[in-house]
Amino acid sequence: MKGMNNQLGPIVLSISLILAFFTGCGERYPQGKALYEAQCAWCHMSDGTGLEGIYPSLVDREDLRQQLWRIPCAIRYGVYDSLRVGDDTFSLVMMGFPELTDAEVSNISNYIALSFLKLQEGPYNERAVVEMLKRCRSREDTFRLLKSKLQSQ
Ligand code: HEC
Repeated sequence: MKGMNNQLGPIVLSISLILAFFTGCGERYPQGKALYEAQCAWCHMSDGTGLEGIYPSLVDREDLRQQLWRIPCAIRYGVYDSLRVGDDTFSLVMMGFPELTDAEVSNISNYIALSFLKLQEGPYNERAVVEMLKRCRSREDTFRLLKSKLQSQ
């Protein structure tokens, strides 16, 4: 009986870890998930798959895994240039969300990284986001230009 208990321990532990893994993605970044659902899901969908030919999917995107800065850049300043993903070209504009703080941008990006890009750890934190946002100067410029045009109308 004692031997049996010794074997059960690791099995119970593994099952709990597997369950925690499958249910844990959203719970690790609850604010990121909530903001994603409220601000992003109506275009990119709750499961991140987007809408064919209109809103790009964020699921399993190797280009985003390789260039993690593109997610915070898209959130803060939007996406105005056309985008090629696989065989699809996306040319609609995505407006930025300049009102979201660095911490909120970090949480949404981590939620996307874990849930859709299947990373094991969230690569973002506030400091990393501030550094990454320096890489999207051209988007920042486009954003400023559009904003000043709108204001002068
Ligand atoms: C009104 C619809 C809409 C909303 C809301 C929206 N997006 Fe987008 N998103 C788009 C479109 C359209 C594109 C492609 C833009 C293009 O090709 O110019 C895009 C592109 C992207 C990209 C790809 C950028 C790249 O460089 O490849 C990311 C990442 C992204 N969105 C994340 C988000 C996140 C996170 C949110 C919520 C904070 C969000 N989007 C909200 C429509 C939307």
